[in-house]
Amino acid sequence: MSALKNLFRKKSFHSITQSNHLSRHLGVKDLTALGIAAIIGAGIFSTIGKASASGGPGVILLFLFVALACSFTAFAYAEFASIVPVSGSAYTYSYMVFGELFAWLIGWSLIMEYAIGNVTVALSWSEYFTHLINHQTPFHIPEWLCVDYFSAKAAYFNSPSKQNTEAWLAYAQAPELWGQKIIFDAPALFVNILITLLVYRGIKESRNASNVMVLIKIAVVVLVIMVGAGYVSLDHWKPFLPNGINGLTGSISAVFFAYIGFDAISTTAEECHNPQKDLPRGIFYALFICTVLYILVALVLTGMVSYTELNVGDPLAYVFDRFPELQWLGGIISISAVVAMASVMLVFQIGQPRIWYSMSRDGLLPKAFQKIHPRYKTPSFSTLVTGILVAIPIFLVDITMVTDICSAGTLFAFCLVCAGILKLSRDPHRPKSAFKTPYLNSRFVLPLLLIIGIAFTYFYNPDFLHKCFNKPLDWQGIPMFIFWGIGTCIVLMAMWYEFSVIPTMGLLLCFYMLSELGLKNWLYFSSWLVVGLIIYFSYGYHHSALKKSLSES
Ligand code: ALA
Repeated sequence: MSALKNLFRKKSFHSITQSNHLSRHLGVKDLTALGIAAIIGAGIFSTIGKASASGGPGVILLFLFVALACSFTAFAYAEFASIVPVSGSAYTYSYMVFGELFAWLIGWSLIMEYAIGNVTVALSWSEYFTHLINHQTPFHIPEWLCVDYFSAKAAYFNSPSKQNTEAWLAYAQAPELWGQKIIFDAPALFVNILITLLVYRGIKESRNASNVMVLIKIAVVVLVIMVGAGYVSLDHWKPFLPNGINGLTGSISAVFFAYIGFDAISTTAEECHNPQKDLPRGIFYALFICTVLYILVALVLTGMVSYTELNVGDPLAYVFDRFPELQWLGGIISISAVVAMASVMLVFQIGQPRIWYSMSRDGLLPKAFQKIHPRYKTPSFSTLVTGILVAIPIFLVDITMVTDICSAGTLFAFCLVCAGILKLSRDPHRPKSAFKTPYLNSRFVLPLLLIIGIAFTYFYNPDFLHKCFNKPLDWQGIPMFIFWGIGTCIVLMAMWYEFSVIPTMGLLLCFYMLSELGLKNWLYFSSWLVVGLIIYFSYGYHHSALKKSLSES
């Protein structure tokens, strides 16, 4: 029984320790810039294409929906960041509220967001970079240095129709060493090494680099909107939802990926001048600015060409290339995409080591992870391990596989952070915080929202209700089935305990998006959690600093 209790041992709010070793250089402007640096990247330069092709101009509704879900979650992050201003982000928050086991699982899932997310961005970066070098300079990067080994092999042997595609050529032309073809994504590896070195060098250097990159990408996105607006044809916006709501739900992961990152700035809490006030503001400013830019870009893209043309990896460059007089912008967009994605990598590469740093301080990871570089004052060992962890999958996986897994890990963390705020709201010992989520009583607002939601779905997307209730249950439907079961319990509990609407809706919407990722991703993600549990029971459970302090007292 006590072993079970140990799994849920909690840190007290008074035991929070902040590091004296990390340097405090970040203000609200830097945090907003870091947020934008983390958010605007592969999502808007790449995955928006696939989402627009499937959803049509109505994809802006999906951007609004995801922005709403992320804003509800942002309230929860902001509140936690102001109560617990330490570098572990969602990991530390769960430690206070749910106990050690959940905290470990969150920390473990965040590897999916930061490290695996960075694999996605590095691969996307490589696509734009290769395109830029091959088309805008006299140089050519050989195909066998631009793709992973397994995609090249599969294209060569399994898909004769892919003859002469980049992946096919990569395998056909690759040199051999001891009978083994040498094929790897060199630009993705290169940018990963560069970013790791920058983050290793210092938070101040990283902040300065990130601020410059943010200015460049915002300038280019605004230029795209302003120039593109003149070429919008209203006919392209009709029909608005060519594939109905189903056309939108299939792209949830792609659009959600575009918003991932606003939470990353909470990992820098110990490097902020005034984390309690500045972190909430930084999170909201960044999210708001990015939402406005995303919606305008989506409107411009779908207004300039037919949505059916947008299923390409570089939709912004593609659309501007379609107008001969705008081709000069194509090159600028490619350069800024390279800059934008590098800045996302930078922030994620800052976030991951800081979470490990916190976990190591709590004894759940070996001491090496809390090693601070004597001169640069950064978590040096964790930073290098992050670089290696991002580098390995670059050799092995392709981009589609990692995008969904990254979204799954992030949504899981978001759900627990919202649930944490709900649990905390019923804790009489909850400490006072500089920021508090506005309270709206679920008992009255939630039924109203539910009725509006069901009526809207009934009139605009009856297929969805049919999909949920009438279809014979198959394995693929399991995540949605679980969502409806647990979702109903959450709604009933929220009304019974009069929870605040904002975190309740954050939890419900993130859980819904998680269920839309499908059974395959749930299985991948569950396997990842099982590996995490094995590591926890082999190491963290026995070395936990909290366990030691509880047994001493
Ligand atoms: N939101 C980040 C991007 O779009 C992950 O690249």
